[in-house]
Amino acid sequence: MSATGLELEGRLALVTGAGRGIGEAVARALVAHGARVIATDLAPEGVGKLAREHPGHLTARFLDVTDAAAVEALVAEAEDSLGPLDIAVNVAGILRSSSVEDLTDEDWAATFSVNANGVLHVSRAAARRMTGRGSGSIVTVASNAAGVPRAGMSAYAASKAAAVMFTKCLGLEVAGRGVRCNTVSPGSTLTDMQRALWTASDAESEAAAAQRVIAGDLATHRTGIPLGRIADPADIAEAVVFLVSDRARHITMHDLYVDGGATLRA
Ligand SMILES: NC(=O)c1ccc[n+]([C@@H]2O[C@H](COP(=O)([O-])OP(=O)(O)OC[C@H]3O[C@@H](n4cnc5c(N)ncnc54)[C@H](O)[C@@H]3O)[C@@H](O)[C@H]2O)c1
Repeated sequence: MSATGLELEGRLALVTGAGRGIGEAVARALVAHGARVIATDLAPEGVGKLAREHPGHLTARFLDVTDAAAVEALVAEAEDSLGPLDIAVNVAGILRSSSVEDLTDEDWAATFSVNANGVLHVSRAAARRMTGRGSGSIVTVASNAAGVPRAGMSAYAASKAAAVMFTKCLGLEVAGRGVRCNTVSPGSTLTDMQRALWTASDAESEAAAAQRVIAGDLATHRTGIPLGRIADPADIAEAVVFLVSDRARHITMHDLYVDGGATLRA
């Protein structure tokens, strides 16, 4: 713990998909715990706003995680200008909802390009540097859909399962060199990604749609959420902050579900 009592003071963190939703909450939480944050996203508005709110603590950068060369260049440039990277958090993700019969090759490729390849690009660039220094922490935000089949989400669920297993394998390879790699697997969380699922199929109010998710749906084999609420992005950010902190210094290759019990950990 630092003199100020902020446990992440002095650490430099990279967050992808930080422009809104869970990534934004993660970036805010890391700053609140004392870290300096490089908030990256495909869309410039959200991270630009974050930078204006946190001058001196948060830097905004454009980054498309599907572009391996751009990821490598950004991490190199960030280390040159801001110092060694201690923390990398993969949050960028996309969801294309479709039955397998209607799923296009492009849907599949685009989903894997962000959710799996993007995680490889960022984690590899971070791990190459962290292992040389003998310390670092990487967290991938996956999904509880990686562990339990979901109707209409095959590409998404498969890409998230790839991201989870990739992160565990990386964790094994780098454990002996002081780098920890973990995943946080959220369930339904109130963000634009979740709202897009609701508005695609119904015109009901947000509260009614949320209630349907909480109650579950036998027809789609969803159990509902035993804790009786949809997650806030901050609930996921809490888990990320814990895993990157020294409180989790003996935890690696772990998959932390933050889903209110929705998957019954099946
Ligand atoms: N919201 C949920 O219910 C939920 C549940 C489980 C897992 N997740 C996962 O959590 C993560 C964040 O989800 P969210 O709900 O905040 O989503 P969101 O759609 O609200 O935000 C995702 C962010 O990622 C960015 N992004 C998309 N493609 C990118 C790319 N190629 N490069 C860089 N940035 C890119 C977007 O611009 C956006 O800012 C995702 O990986 C998602 O799969 C979300």
